[in-house]
Amino acid sequence: MPEAGTRPTQNEFIPLEEIQRAADELGRRSAIRPTVGLIMGSGLGPIADGIQPSVVIPASEIPGWPIPTVEGHLGRVVIGEWVGQSVLMLQGRAHYYEGHSIARIGFPIRVIYELGVRTLIVTNAAGAVHPDYRPGELMLILDHVNLIGMAGLSPLRGPNLENYGPRFPDMSQAYDRVLHALARDVARREGISLREGVYVCLAGPSFETPADLRFLQSIGADAVGMSTVPEVVTARHAGMRVLGLSGISNKANLDGSSPTTHEEVLSAGKTLVPVLTRLVRGILRGLATEG
Ligand code: HPA
Repeated sequence: MPEAGTRPTQNEFIPLEEIQRAADELGRRSAIRPTVGLIMGSGLGPIADGIQPSVVIPASEIPGWPIPTVEGHLGRVVIGEWVGQSVLMLQGRAHYYEGHSIARIGFPIRVIYELGVRTLIVTNAAGAVHPDYRPGELMLILDHVNLIGMAGLSPLRGPNLENYGPRFPDMSQAYDRVLHALARDVARREGISLREGVYVCLAGPSFETPADLRFLQSIGADAVGMSTVPEVVTARHAGMRVLGLSGISNKANLDGSSPTTHEEVLSAGKTLVPVLTRLVRGILRGLATEG
């Protein structure tokens, strides 16, 4: 977050030195060099309980880190070993609607890249756009619609940092196909039902009107949320492999008969944590055997 009394500017550019300062701080706190990063969305943070041994670092102690202010987001970074992998988990994330610049939303991704993270598993709570999706279901993100980016909010705006990637990064395979296959395989073996669809990111924080939802359906979206895409764009710019999972927290309110609330989102998170934990553990186990 910006200093009290200052306003984040959409023109904010975060230089390499600032990214490295934050990475140095994380590196000082843990001898473990994580290669897999995990971002836990609304209400999904408790998944980190499986990480052993772990170092827990409050976001407020990492210079420049965007601090989450929303209930359901703990705002901590956990580094440790989990199912044979060295991992770094963001327990909760910051969103653009909280007042951070869009560049600041991409900042943690560059920091963890500096630490050595090359595979990123992103999760979120999402609303159903697809009429058949029900709260408590999981969706493998096959692709996204970067509506927030089309509206002008890209974390890559400003001078390109060549250390990470090219000026015009490809997004034709934003979500890794090998990781898709691994997720499907684990879901099948574990008896977890996994939807597959397209995620669309809006700026929020207001939920969608029924007309918004009809529009989102018409552009090919299956689930909607207020996160993930800026992080994925930053990660792909740097060449990280990305797997995305949405926990469906509320059904599509297409006729306006059932208002959407944040409580509903958090309550779905509670039922999703055990199944998402099984899925992520299986995926980490699969990554360990990849060699
Ligand atoms: N819309 C946008 N974001 C969300 C929703 C929703 O219905 N549910 C959880 N995050």
